[in-house]
Amino acid sequence: MDKVNFVILAAGKGTRMRSAMPKVLHKLAGRSMLGHVVDAVDSLGIAQKIIVTGHGAEQVEAAFQNNTTQFVQQTEQLGTGHAVQQAEPALGDDATVIVLYGDVPLIRAKTIEKILDVVSSTTMGLLTIHLDNPQGYGRIVRGNGDAIEAIVEQKDASADELSITEVNTGVMALKAEHLRAWLPKITNNNAQGEYYLTDLIAIARQHGVEIVSINPESATEVEGVNNRVQLSQLERAHQKQLAEALMVSGTSLADPERFDQRGELIAGTDNFIDVNCVFVGKVTMGSGVTIGANCHITDSVIGDGVQVLPNTIIESSVVGDRAVIGPFARLRPGTELASDTKIGNFVETKKTLVGKGSKINHLSYVGDAELGEEVNIGAGTITCNYDGVNKHKTSLGDKVFIGSNSTLVAPINVDKGGFVAAGSTVTSKVPEDSLAVGRAKQRNIDGWKRPTKKGKED
Ligand code: UD1
Ligand code: CA
Repeated sequence: MDKVNFVILAAGKGTRMRSAMPKVLHKLAGRSMLGHVVDAVDSLGIAQKIIVTGHGAEQVEAAFQNNTTQFVQQTEQLGTGHAVQQAEPALGDDATVIVLYGDVPLIRAKTIEKILDVVSSTTMGLLTIHLDNPQGYGRIVRGNGDAIEAIVEQKDASADELSITEVNTGVMALKAEHLRAWLPKITNNNAQGEYYLTDLIAIARQHGVEIVSINPESATEVEGVNNRVQLSQLERAHQKQLAEALMVSGTSLADPERFDQRGELIAGTDNFIDVNCVFVGKVTMGSGVTIGANCHITDSVIGDGVQVLPNTIIESSVVGDRAVIGPFARLRPGTELASDTKIGNFVETKKTLVGKGSKINHLSYVGDAELGEEVNIGAGTITCNYDGVNKHKTSLGDKVFIGSNSTLVAPINVDKGGFVAAGSTVTSKVPEDSLAVGRAKQRNIDGWKRPTKKGKED
């Protein structure tokens, strides 16, 4: 792939997005549109990318700076041909060039490969598609023996040409030497006064080069985004494809229309995902997992047979086999649950290792902590991990029992089998198998009279 130069057009203003942000930085499935194109390109191996920027160039360049990407600026948008002309000095000598678009985000790597495959010194590749409604697109004009002869833009087309339903997607691939020789021949002598990249097709024919058409697998691959309505439509189409792929691989979804994947989701089989769940970044799930409604899971690993009950949030965490989490639990970054653990409602954990079979069932905050096996944390327990300046650690040995409403002031250790009485504030180490009682002693007052309402006394 090192002899391929990818030219990605991303100079347009995207006026119809009505946004301070350049169009190509708007997100689809959690990744910018341009990011999707770059990912498809990068998945093909090391290649030289040339991104043509214009509106919001600084922001676009800052977001995609790396050593396989070059930026060229098109300060005035005089047409797609003009945009590619700006990239011309950056092209390799005997490379194959492919033109892609930053606002056509769902092009697949396979389709790119297919077009590249047909390029030779006597052929070039063009991605075309048949549309029921070709309105607005450049039409593909075929001549003798069905050979592609030209592309005619909507605004320049005759009535006959307007009835053609095969359209130009904009994606084309050809030899750099051809592009170099032909770009100067493009003029702006047309209805829009623009330099049309599409003129290259007729020029190629004049030089005896054959145009080979390739079709995308689905129309979503070549759909562009001009406004937020189209962006949302493409988002849903993309989510539908992701949902279907997940179902085909063995996971059931309560409703594929209420599923959102913003990254990579790797799942085993016989999983069930209820409605309105969002998966962000890289999430790996084993088999036999149940995810309740309204869960938000980011960059985490979920083991086999795990039950995530509704309204649970999990971020950068590892969940062991058969763990039960939620409803309304929040696992913050650095939480690692061993197998057979339980995290109940209104429990927040952070940077915490929870040993096998341990439970934190209700209303707790456990942060910067390490719990052994079969530990039981009572309702309302809080680890006081922060002294206002530094964070401190809480360590609980195997089979430790923390009574309800306890406060563990870190740094603190409760050794194996240690027991903390309910309502305690524990500030120093609890030795193995001992009981810590750290609360005010109860006293009872005999014959105590309740207060009565003022003015009611006789
Ligand atoms: C273009 C094609 C048309 C095709 C359609 C597919 C031309 C002349 N026409 O038309 O045949 O059916 O795409 O969607 O190529 N851009 C720049 N600099 C410019 C002009 C455009 O970077 O000076 C970028 C735009 O930001 C956009 C892309 O190129 O991402 C396409 O430009 P646009 O003006 O939308 O072309 P269309 O008229 O849609
Ligand atoms: Ca367009």
